[in-house]
Amino acid sequence: MKLLSQTLCLCLVLALSHAHHHAGHQDGGHEGHEGHEGHDHAHHAAVLLDRCKGLEMDAVAVTEEGQPYFFKGDHVFKGFHGKAELSNQSFAELDDHHHLGHVDAAFLMHFPDKPTEHDHIFFMLDTKVFSYYKHKLEMGFPKDISEVFPGIPDHLDAAVVCPAPDCEEDSVIFFKGDEIYHYNVKTKKVEEKKFEGMPNCTSAFRFMEHYYCFHGHQFSKFDPKTGEVHGRYPKEARDYFMKCSKFGDTTDHIERERCSRVHLDAITSDDAGNIYAFRGHHFLEQDAGNDTWAADTIESEFKELHSEVDAVFSYENHLYMIKDDKVYVYKVGEPHTHLDGYPKPLKEVLGVEGPIDAAFVCQDHHIAHVIKGQTVYDVDLKASPRVPVKEGTFTLFDKVDAGMCGPEGVKVFKGNHYFHFQSMKIMLMARAIPAEHKTALELFGCDH
Ligand SMILES: *[C@@H]1O[C@H](CO)[C@@H](O)[C@H](O)[C@H]1NC(C)=O
Ligand SMILES: *[C@@H]1O[C@H](CO)[C@@H](O)[C@H](O)[C@H]1NC(C)=O
Ligand SMILES: *[C@@H]1O[C@H](CO)[C@@H](O)[C@H](O)[C@H]1NC(C)=O
Repeated sequence: MKLLSQTLCLCLVLALSHAHHHAGHQDGGHEGHEGHEGHDHAHHAAVLLDRCKGLEMDAVAVTEEGQPYFFKGDHVFKGFHGKAELSNQSFAELDDHHHLGHVDAAFLMHFPDKPTEHDHIFFMLDTKVFSYYKHKLEMGFPKDISEVFPGIPDHLDAAVVCPAPDCEEDSVIFFKGDEIYHYNVKTKKVEEKKFEGMPNCTSAFRFMEHYYCFHGHQFSKFDPKTGEVHGRYPKEARDYFMKCSKFGDTTDHIERERCSRVHLDAITSDDAGNIYAFRGHHFLEQDAGNDTWAADTIESEFKELHSEVDAVFSYENHLYMIKDDKVYVYKVGEPHTHLDGYPKPLKEVLGVEGPIDAAFVCQDHHIAHVIKGQTVYDVDLKASPRVPVKEGTFTLFDKVDAGMCGPEGVKVFKGNHYFHFQSMKIMLMARAIPAEHKTALELFGCDH
């Protein structure tokens, strides 16, 4: 016991001096200070790296599974939310060469007709390039950048893959300061360009067929051939590519929520046909017969729930909102009213253990379809007590984010896409992933 309390004391002292050290840093008022942590501070950085604080990323690449990885120092943020991990947990050798700095640039080589490099992730660190395939370093790497990409300078800032016809030929675009290099992957010819009017990129990636240049904690969408930026840019990276709760008052919630690439937490339409889509602290609502979307905080209309819901379904003019192992029930109206006696345990209301991923009721039925991992349960809402019956497994995805059911069938949401099935039965029988739809573009009508 004595030893334990001594250890505890030591930890407290360390934690306090740690906090003090960083408070001092912050007084300096330098927003991106995390980036200047040396190796001796790597451990501190692991605790402190918070992408919602406005980090400038070193590099961004999309993996072969379509998952964006944001690199910062010796850490990586996977996807649009969640904590940083050490990048060497995913790419073991990146940290072996201590004289090399952090990842300067990264991209996924995606050219199916070049099988030796297709779906390899390339990392540029100082003068070296690393090539990984399925998280394994390719034989003979790291190599010099000048050997693998002749004509491309060392110490790059960013890189992005650019297949034809986005670029005239299958290319990789490298960025260094305001110099732009179009590297033709077939002929190895390099074309130098200036992208007038575009900021110097610190990282860049291609995502859903668009090209994004990150600079500071902002980004601009650009034309990869000319570097032209159309529309109102730069925009705030945290609004579109990260799941952060509100951090400023100046942003337009509707535009941000419609255009965010971050996955939805839940979506439903009520009996009248109004659609509600939930993400983090906000929700979007589209009233039946009106094709404009409105956005607000969850707190403002569903105070008891506050934020971050797991699943929402509507049934008999009520919204059932599930968060962790609790169910909140609101009577639809203006305002929505929270029913007395709720929240109740999920186990009691639906008979299922939380957390769940999605839930929905299809037209004119009394069955809640509850998706948890790859298992789908049926819960008869007329029965008492409610007993979940395993309806089947849905193995096209390891996990879905949200789902809804309407007159046209089932929509399942995963990442920034949704997938449509004519019916629940067809969904459970599906053996191949159907055509993907872009949530921001096709559902919310975001034009960029
Ligand atoms: C990853 O990097 C950390 C810190 O730089 C180091 O302590 C750890 O041993 C490395 N892990 C592997 C698997 O190389
Ligand atoms: C962009 O990079 C060039 C060097 O290539 C540098 O001279 C210029 O100051 C940079 N611009 C900004 C805004 O940092
Ligand atoms: C449609 O919805 C928007 C946003 O909620 C609202 O401002 C507008 O008045 C509505 N239009 C109609 C015709 O109801």
